[in-house]
Amino acid sequence: MKKLFPSYVRVPLIFAIVMAALEYFIDSGDRPAFIKHPMVALFLVVFLFLLVAIEVVISAVDKVTYHMLTEEQRKQLEEVQSVSFTESKWVQNLMKSMTRSKSIEQEADVMLEHDYDGIKELDNVLPPWWVNLFYATIIFGVIYLVRFHIVGDYNQGQEFDQEVAAAQLEIEKNKANSPKEEITFDKVTLLTDAESLAKGKEIFTNACAACHKPDGGGIVGPNLTDEYWINGGGIKNVFKLIAEGSKNNPTMVGWAKTLGTTEVQKVASYVLSLQGTKPAGGKAPEGEKWVEEAAPAATDTTAVAAK
Ligand code: HEC
Repeated sequence: MKKLFPSYVRVPLIFAIVMAALEYFIDSGDRPAFIKHPMVALFLVVFLFLLVAIEVVISAVDKVTYHMLTEEQRKQLEEVQSVSFTESKWVQNLMKSMTRSKSIEQEADVMLEHDYDGIKELDNVLPPWWVNLFYATIIFGVIYLVRFHIVGDYNQGQEFDQEVAAAQLEIEKNKANSPKEEITFDKVTLLTDAESLAKGKEIFTNACAACHKPDGGGIVGPNLTDEYWINGGGIKNVFKLIAEGSKNNPTMVGWAKTLGTTEVQKVASYVLSLQGTKPAGGKAPEGEKWVEEAAPAATDTTAVAAK
């Protein structure tokens, strides 16, 4: 039989199938599996190498055996190889078992009597592929009937509700992922829930601790744990300063662009949660003591701006 695909098609094809299967079965989020998991990339490289090696060995063995054949055997081999896929024994047998059609020589056995102007009719059996399909639909129908009309597994209404609920979940998930409404100076409030503060702490450790120390005690930047603020205390001023940066000192840049205002709100809330923690080795107070009632945040905007 002729080979179905030449090796330069076979190797890439098998490789692509294996790679697609890996991609499908390994959960790697938004990145391809072979980038996220180096082991997968390694596996693919080794696999490709083996595929090529196998092809090389097989073709080498073929060549060697061909040279060892006698003239007659070579002819036989060429004959066998010239048979196409559809003419091969295997396909022929499969077709026969699926159709059970009679060969032309045997047609006389199933010929019916009638003759319409020379057109004759054969009484072929129904082809098994068709009959089996028919039985399968009957079995399907019985199972369907029992499951949905007798047992009453679920109906279309319930199915609809389930899908709506699933879609609702999806919407919630998307909302949680997409950037929320912008927080502004007027809207900002102090967050006290553990989740927001934990997120704030994470941001602080990553982005701010280099200048403010992980405990907020201050290095380049001032101590954030005391009641003294250079730029005014309270959630609104702290939020504004972290979002926009300090006008007095460009070392403290604005973070709204990098983090987004919702994250700035969280880190600002976290900073304020450090109030009064008095970390060891904290910097001396700078700025003025902040008293919430004496200077309501709203009026203090002008004070910050004026500085
Ligand atoms: C490159 C160093 C540096 C980084 C990084 C940094 N800061 Fe600052 N920060 C400063 C300096 C310097 C000041 C003082 C600004 C001034 O004098 O107005 C300051 C001031 C502040 C203030 C106001 C303090 C006051 O007394 O008014 C807050 C609040 C603050 N930073 C929070 C943060 C947060 C939150 C982050 C991380 C998102 C951060 N900083 C990252 C250097 C930094």
